[in-house]
Amino acid sequence: MDLSKSKKGTAAVWAGEGDLNTKGAATSPIVNSVAFSYHDLDEWHDVSTGKASGFIYSRNTNPTVAVLEEKIRVLESAEAATAFSTGMAAISNTLFTFLTAGKRVVSIKDTYGGASKLFLDFLPHYDINVKLCDTTDHEQIESEIAKGCDLVYLETPTNPTLKVVDIKRLSAAAKKAGAIVAVDNTFATPINQNPLQLGADLVIHSATKFLCGHSDAMGGLVAGKKELVQKVFHFREINGASLQADPAYMIARGMKTLELRIERQNASALKIASYLKGHRKVKDVFYPGLETHTGYDIAKQQMRGFGGIMSFALDGSYDLVKKFLTNLKLVHLAASLGSVSTLAGPPRTTSHVELTEEQRKLLGIPESLIRYSVGIENVDDLLQDLDEALGLL
Ligand SMILES: Cc1ncc(COP(=O)(O)O)c(C=O)c1O
Repeated sequence: MDLSKSKKGTAAVWAGEGDLNTKGAATSPIVNSVAFSYHDLDEWHDVSTGKASGFIYSRNTNPTVAVLEEKIRVLESAEAATAFSTGMAAISNTLFTFLTAGKRVVSIKDTYGGASKLFLDFLPHYDINVKLCDTTDHEQIESEIAKGCDLVYLETPTNPTLKVVDIKRLSAAAKKAGAIVAVDNTFATPINQNPLQLGADLVIHSATKFLCGHSDAMGGLVAGKKELVQKVFHFREINGASLQADPAYMIARGMKTLELRIERQNASALKIASYLKGHRKVKDVFYPGLETHTGYDIAKQQMRGFGGIMSFALDGSYDLVKKFLTNLKLVHLAASLGSVSTLAGPPRTTSHVELTEEQRKLLGIPESLIRYSVGIENVDDLLQDLDEALGLL
C-alpha cells in the first residue's frame, strides 16, 4: 500500500502490515523463527545472495522486524530503515559504521549520557577525532564543521535540559563540508519532528521510549538514505546487535497509537510546564514549548509539537528533590521516558548516571534537576499530584 501521502496516524497503523496476514489474520503475526527454509535450492541461493527478496536468518532480517522497519521508514519519509536491539545499539552502530581511525565527528555536549560516553571514552580509543561543541552555540558548531569532518551527530531536543538545535542550519553547514548528518529524534518522535525533511541524512530512535510507548520492550531504529542505511545494516548484521521478533511486535503495536499518545502528551506537557513555571518552589523549567525557553523560536520552526518531556529544578537542595519525588503519587520513579505512565527521576540517577558530577556540571545539569516524562493520564490528575507534592515541601 502506498502511504507516502497518508497522514502520520494512518501510516503508523497500516505501514508494513499486509504481507504477513496469513489466513486473513488482521494483524501481522510474530515470526519467532531463527531460520527460513526453502524447497528450491536455486531460490534459496538467490535470496542468500540478494538477487531475490526473502528471509534467510533472523540476525540479518526477520519478517516481524521488517514490519517495524517499514513503519519508521514511512513515518520519517525515509528511503530505508533498519532495526537494532536497543537505542544505544542504533547509535553505536551508526557511529562505528562511518567513523574509522583518522576520521572526525562534530557533535554537541548535551547528547544522551550513553552517546556522550561513546564520544568521551570509546571513540578516542580508535583514533577517531571527536569535537563536542556547546549545544546552543550554532556559530561554533558551524565553524567546527567547516574545519572538515565526516559525521555531524545531533540530538534535539536534548536530554535532559531540552536544548534545541537547528537541524536545517547545521545540515546545510554539513552538506558544504561533505559530512553526513545523523539526528537522534527520540524525544521529538516522527509525529513532532522529521529531521530528514530538514536536511539530515539519517534519523535515529531509541524505540524503547515513545515509539513503543509502554515501557515493555527495547529497540532502536535508524532510517534515512538507502545507500547509508544499507551500510549501517551491514555493520549490524555482522556485529549482531539485531532486534528480535517479540520486541519488534510490541514496538510496532505501540506505534499504532503513537499519534494519539503524542498529541495528548504534547498538550499535557505544555499545561504542566506552564503551571510549574509559575510555582514559587520551582526555580527553573526547561520545556521548548515555553516562550521563555532559549530554543523556543527554533523549536517552533522545526517541530509540530513540543513533546512530552520537561525538566525542572526546585528551589532548594537535593534533599528537597528526594522529598518531592517521593511525595508524588502518579509517577514511576524510574530511569526511562516516553511511556503511557508518567515517569520521573533526577538525571544524576537516570540519563546521566554514567557521567561524573563534574561532567554533569559542565553540561549545565544541576544535581537537583528533575526530568518529568508526562504519560497519557488525565492532565488534571497530574496537575493535582504535582500541586500536592509541591505543597508538602
Ligand atoms: C535521547 C536518547 N537516545 C538514546 C537512548 C538510548 O536508548 P536505549 O536505552 O534504548 O538504548 C536514550 C535512552 O534513554 C535516550 O534518551
